[in-house]
Amino acid sequence: MIEINKSTIASWDRFYRANFINSLSGFKSVCLIGTKGKDGIPNLAIFNNIVHLGADPAMIGFINRPKAAAPDTIRNIEETGMYTMNHIHPGIIEQAHQTSAKYDASVNEFEAVGLDILWREDCAAPFVKDSPIQYQLTLSDIIPIPANGTFLVTGYIESVYLQEDHREADGFLPLEQYQSVTSLGIDGYYQTKKIMRLPYARP
Ligand SMILES: Cc1cc2nc3c(=O)[nH]c(=O)nc-3n(C[C@H](O)[C@H](O)[C@H](O)COP(=O)(O)O)c2cc1C
Repeated sequence: MIEINKSTIASWDRFYRANFINSLSGFKSVCLIGTKGKDGIPNLAIFNNIVHLGADPAMIGFINRPKAAAPDTIRNIEETGMYTMNHIHPGIIEQAHQTSAKYDASVNEFEAVGLDILWREDCAAPFVKDSPIQYQLTLSDIIPIPANGTFLVTGYIESVYLQEDHREADGFLPLEQYQSVTSLGIDGYYQTKKIMRLPYARP
């Protein structure tokens, strides 16, 4: 076993440390978050710290870095209370990754990275047209995490859009059939393969 302690981690170069620590918490549910602010400019950014909060009501959370580092998505969500999450397939990974660049707030990132935008009635936030699984959320809470200046943004799922219907009989969504990619660290993207599903565990 290799032991790596807190002081060793603190001594590392910041990029090495970021790559290592970001890999540690595992493969992530990577999505593109679509928003539009009061200024009317569509914004798109890639996020992978996304977490299921509950199914009734259906809620999802994500972690936003400090506002100085990632200002646009969270500001737009505060302004409109709406946002979309869009799964990524292998054909759009490079464009999706490019949304992490620090574009000025005045830039339409759909245009900048070359992804087609999709608007739906009753939703102020844009979707990614080519995304195999898209869903619309309304804001519940923005919870500051004082320890490091990040935010937990929680929202209610309003509508879900599936490019094809691969739902299993019990509602399970086999994401690999949508070619939905997963991510590791801050720049690794992976395809997935199901190993097994198991029955509900009882004592
Ligand atoms: C694979 C990947 C995952 C990312 N995940 C997050 C995340 O979960 N939270 C976050 O705040 N930023 C994350 N980022 C960085 C944002 O994409 C980046 O800061 C982006 O510019 C935010 O844009 P905004 O100012 O439009 O919100 C990630 C970047 C990459 C490449």
